Amino acid sequence: MDFPKVIRLVAQAVYAVFGLAILVLMLLIVLWVNPALISSNRVSPEDWRPRDAKTDLGTSPRDNLVKYGYEIITETSKHIGPMAPKVNVRYAGNNLSCQSCHLEAGRKTGSASFVGVANRFPQFRGRENKMGNLIERVNGCMERSMNGKVLPDNSLEMQAIIAYMEWLSENVPKDKEAQYKGFAKLEIPNKKADVNTGKALYIKHCQTCHMDNGQGQRPSENDKYLYPPLWGKDSYNHGAGMHRVITAAQFIKGNMPYLEATLDNPVLTDEEAYHVAAYINSFQRPQKANPEVDFPDKKLKPVSTPYGPWVDEFSPDQHKYGPFQPIMAWYEKELGIKKSK
Ligand code: HEC
Ligand code: HEC
Repeated sequence: MDFPKVIRLVAQAVYAVFGLAILVLMLLIVLWVNPALISSNRVSPEDWRPRDAKTDLGTSPRDNLVKYGYEIITETSKHIGPMAPKVNVRYAGNNLSCQSCHLEAGRKTGSASFVGVANRFPQFRGRENKMGNLIERVNGCMERSMNGKVLPDNSLEMQAIIAYMEWLSENVPKDKEAQYKGFAKLEIPNKKADVNTGKALYIKHCQTCHMDNGQGQRPSENDKYLYPPLWGKDSYNHGAGMHRVITAAQFIKGNMPYLEATLDNPVLTDEEAYHVAAYINSFQRPQKANPEVDFPDKKLKPVSTPYGPWVDEFSPDQHKYGPFQPIMAWYEKELGIKKSK
């Protein structure tokens, strides 16, 4: 055998092994710096945060649709409400934004966040007594919280809102999805909510922003609200979820006073949130048309739905302000139905 040839072969083998080792090392370094390269769908729960339309979108057609959805959520009145230039797209009847209640463009825990929401539909809806999809759920808020009309399924605006919610709902770890869902838990006080106690709390904790007349603040009639109204003609109507004292108390507990209260660090106690929720809901507001058609199966109506008809004999006043425990106990005893709101 030719000796130099053997040396050459050995040298080549050594080079090859070295080269390979360097390549593997480089690959490891790259993955260490940016693990998302191999696991873009499996972000570890500690590193996860909700997507943000201000920073996490590109320029693809889908991204543009999502962006438009984000704009509608944050400036609803300008796009589909009273401030929209074109009269025929004024579907919302008040100047609130979806974001007035679904805070931080639907990205805050404790405010019926949109993070993960698309993964929960279709679902059974007692209010309509049938399976409902996400489009129908959005229209539920259009007709009540926004005191307006339904957005057509195939309108660009509805498609954009849905695209935004679907985008926020992609790759959300299961435990985060549960954390973002719904409102703060509330131990419902076993007493009637007291509007006078609520008024004192309102003056102390709410009035600086929402004003003593509850009408909120905005620079002019042509601007969006800095602080939205809580009652009166530009507020949610009497068929809205926020008009139920229990739901409003849950929202308030986890979110108000704004920028102070969070889901984990509420400012008001459960009882304070309950009284102040009664106070803001004790004033005049727009009336939803045909409220009696809600909940075709009246047994499924939440006990705190403040408008009739009900299958029980409790007074309208008790359905609005409680105490709710006796009503819940009646449903459980007479009809075997457990109710939480
Ligand atoms: C005045 C407050 C308010 C405004 C404004 C509002 N919503 Fe809601 N929204 C609620 C409440 C309260 C609920 C939950 C009701 C319940 O649980 O009974 C809700 C629930 C939802 C849900 C279902 C959430 C889930 O986790 O199942 C969607 C989707 C939704 N709203 C979309 C919208 C959109 C889109 C807009 C704007 C066009 C909007 N909402 C405006 C108060 C509001
Ligand atoms: C520092 C100002 C501030 C204070 C104090 C404050 N809020 Fe708010 N509130 C806001 C803002 C801002 C929003 C809407 C968030 C948005 O548009 O991004 C809001 C939204 C709301 C909403 C849902 C939207 C609507 O118009 O119905 C309710 C209900 C509400 N606040 C009740 C209260 C109550 C009750 C208190 C007192 C316990 C309170 N707020 C204290 C600023 C405030």
